[in-house]
Amino acid sequence: MDKAGLERVARAMVAKDKGILAADESSGTIKKRFDAIQLESTEEHRRSYREMLLTTPGIGQWISGVIFYDETLRQKTRDGVPFAAWLEKQGVLPGIKVDLGAKALAGFAGETITEGLDGLRERLAGYYQLGARFAKWRAVIDIADGIPSRFGIEANAHALARYAALCQEQQIVPIVEPEVLMDGGHSLERCEEVTDAVLAEVFGQLALHRIHLEGMVLKPNMVISGKKAANRASPDQVAEATVRTLKRHVPSAVPGIAFLSGGQSSPEATLHLSLMNKLGPLPWNLTFSYGRALQDTALKAWGGKSATYGAGQKEFAKRARLNSLATTGRYAATLEAEAA
Ligand code: 13P
Repeated sequence: MDKAGLERVARAMVAKDKGILAADESSGTIKKRFDAIQLESTEEHRRSYREMLLTTPGIGQWISGVIFYDETLRQKTRDGVPFAAWLEKQGVLPGIKVDLGAKALAGFAGETITEGLDGLRERLAGYYQLGARFAKWRAVIDIADGIPSRFGIEANAHALARYAALCQEQQIVPIVEPEVLMDGGHSLERCEEVTDAVLAEVFGQLALHRIHLEGMVLKPNMVISGKKAANRASPDQVAEATVRTLKRHVPSAVPGIAFLSGGQSSPEATLHLSLMNKLGPLPWNLTFSYGRALQDTALKAWGGKSATYGAGQKEFAKRARLNSLATTGRYAATLEAEAA
């Protein structure tokens, strides 16, 4: 393992003014996104949608890395340039989702375990050859009556740490993503309690598995009320609770934390990130690794048509730029009114 090399990549992923585009929707998930704009999920539609995002002029100013799905890492621009090579030319790091999804955890109703460890060493080596310099694995923790169980948290944290160790062995920076879902009607306090337990276990397992903390990135949920909660906590409360919780568990050796958006609206996700960065000084860089919160408006503006290709890129550039401002606390909701 070349530790210095891993550290360089991890630091670049979370550099100030930049964040990560999560474009790693599996074929099933992208079909759901395309269904919303009545577009058939063909391989060519999936390719041209990703090309639209990746060839947005100026992408390298705001985006440090892009997470791909297996199919997408192998795709090319219409001029025949592999997406990974295209990104490298823009100074953007290519990454790859390597988990095989969250499956029902046998014996624990309502809980899941993320699969994909078998054969992972060989898959990582192959992805490195294709240009991937970082990877992602998402563990999913749902909150409801009686869940998550202690065992569910432990099993998921153990799998995350095994994944992270294999990544570092293969000279790939692991994004460690334990996502506490915001589905349901729970309070911010309940989310904080569960996120506390999850992060404590995750960092315990990372230590046991001898993970080089300087060469990884954490991708957590924010501490936030459930979507269906009656009285949802304010943006300031979310920012304070999230930073407070992270400070309890994330060693300062970790160079950066890149949040998932998890179903927040695009402006909400940007505001929360900006408010957190105003609470500084913080021991790590705080940035974004958003999927929906970077793509929703761009996907709608594009709508699957070549005539609106540029309109999609403008919307993507707008969200990327506003989130870039949020990495230094310079975003304000008034900026939403500006033209894309
Ligand atoms: P969202 O930002 O849409 O939650 O997606 C981020 C991600 O990569 C989830 O695994």
